[in-house]
Amino acid sequence: MDRRKFIGTGSAALAILALPKALRAQPCPTSTTADRYGYGPYYIDGAPTRAKLAGSTEPGKKMSIDGVVTNCSGPVKGVTLEVWQATAAGCYIHPSQPECPDGGNPQVSRLWAKLVTNEKGAFAFDTVQPGVYLNGAKYRPSHIHFRIRSPQGSADPLDLVTQLYFEGDQYIAGDYGADEPGAKPRTIALKSAAGVLTGNFPVHIPGGTTALGGRIDPLSDPALDTFDAFVQRAGDRFRVFLPPVPAGQPVEARLYDGNGVLFRRSLHTSLPLEFDAALWPRGNYQAEFRWHTDKGPRSEAVSLRK
Ligand SMILES: [Fe+2]
Repeated sequence: MDRRKFIGTGSAALAILALPKALRAQPCPTSTTADRYGYGPYYIDGAPTRAKLAGSTEPGKKMSIDGVVTNCSGPVKGVTLEVWQATAAGCYIHPSQPECPDGGNPQVSRLWAKLVTNEKGAFAFDTVQPGVYLNGAKYRPSHIHFRIRSPQGSADPLDLVTQLYFEGDQYIAGDYGADEPGAKPRTIALKSAAGVLTGNFPVHIPGGTTALGGRIDPLSDPALDTFDAFVQRAGDRFRVFLPPVPAGQPVEARLYDGNGVLFRRSLHTSLPLEFDAALWPRGNYQAEFRWHTDKGPRSEAVSLRK
């Protein structure tokens, strides 16, 4: 059966138009792009997991960077970020740069680290402002390298190698990596407070609407956390039971097929929700439901198998 026959039926299209503004799907943020320079010559696998790239005696201006990794569904936990950068003097503590002093133990002094996003998709690290260095005849702007990977087994695997730049850097103009449109969202403002430069790097990764298991809804109502949505099946009919939905509030349902492709979207005003699956191909499906409570948005997800 052609999947397109299920998409955008008249009733589904009307349902989307009728959705209250708050329930309409938010546009997905544009994904963070790879940097044109790729890894560059100084990536080393195996960075230690830590939130401080620099020891307390590291020369340079102190800098703190934080951010949240999001996809179309919101914050993503368990994302790995490997970070490496030049010293304030503009050199990398790397075997190919023996003139760069490493201060002894490279596990301590090398300006590198591995971070993992927490339950809120957040990461943060302390370091020093990277120095500029010559690339041919020109200086590269100050930058921090990132390798960003989604959690193992993710429905939307990602391995993104990119760089972070800083607004106002005189060496951005004409730089092959920094002076291109994709690098603009990766060029952040820095504030100075109590002698520390601080910046926020929002990272957007693809996918999410199908990665239901990893979705985080920070506004969910804790009082209803113990209620699990459940499904009853009778023949080709599915009934979905949800936590209490305020009277008159519509529930938006999105169904994804086994490939994670959205194939049906509908609005329901009575509970339990009912789906006639007589025409659905056999297979596994994921269903996501969203509605509003007086405490904010609420969502549930269930698996269906036909
Ligand atoms: Fe670099």
